[in-house]
Amino acid sequence: TRLHAVNIIIAGAPASGKGTQCEIIKEKFGVVHLSTGDMLRAAVAAGTEVGKKAKDFMDSGKLVPDEVIIGIVKDRLMEEDCQKMGWLLDGFPRTQAQAKALEEAGVSADCFLFLDVPDEVLVERVVGRRTDPVTGKIYHMTFSPPEDEEIASRLEQRSDDTEEKVKVRLEQFHTNVDAVKDSYTEIMVAIDGNQHPSVVSATITETIEKMTASKA
Ligand code: AP5
Repeated sequence: TRLHAVNIIIAGAPASGKGTQCEIIKEKFGVVHLSTGDMLRAAVAAGTEVGKKAKDFMDSGKLVPDEVIIGIVKDRLMEEDCQKMGWLLDGFPRTQAQAKALEEAGVSADCFLFLDVPDEVLVERVVGRRTDPVTGKIYHMTFSPPEDEEIASRLEQRSDDTEEKVKVRLEQFHTNVDAVKDSYTEIMVAIDGNQHPSVVSATITETIEKMTASKA
């Protein structure tokens, strides 16, 4: 057991494998997984004020405005489970303003993992992705197909997972990524995300252990 909680940021383009790797990191390091995409989809499904503000942006593949998302993330990070067990921030910060807001709130991470995957690979990943609404598990019809017929029959596809919308999502990503990376030069580690998920995950585990060794 660690004496101090581990705080991790994971970033990368749409479908670079953040969610897939977060399932593994969460198990290994016992941290709280906070995906802003999941939080926003839950808000949209529940029809909250935030959900109403976010819906149209998400449907078109655009980022939701900074002021809609920043407050939610800051509040969530202050909650007891995150403070105690550490956190894994997935999909945030995605803009320079979001990175600045974390810094101003005194929130710092032990490492910033960046999953590198070429754009042409991302499109194929997006269109084949499905999620299991029962377990939350992420599948890919070609790369990691469902285990049995029962699971296969209930899989869902995200409304923003079309070839047309991923173009917009990639544009938004490329517009912002350099500014976000610049905020984390000292703790950033780029990971080759264009390998088998188990290879990516081994590299990530090693990196986190190295970056947090002084905290263990
Ligand atoms: P969000 O949910 O964060 O979507 P995203 O960044 O586009 O990331 P994805 O969930 O698409 O991909 P992922 O990297 O998790 O990949 P996955 O592991 O699933 O955001 C959605 C929307 O919410 C945004 O467009 C925006 O509107 C809004 N939003 C969220 N955060 C925001 C913020 N901070 N500010 C403003 N707006 C925000 O993998 C993808 C597929 O590939 C799967 O099928 C998987 O099985 C497969 N796969 C994974 N790894 C591999 C591998 N190594 N090899 C082969 N296949 C693989």
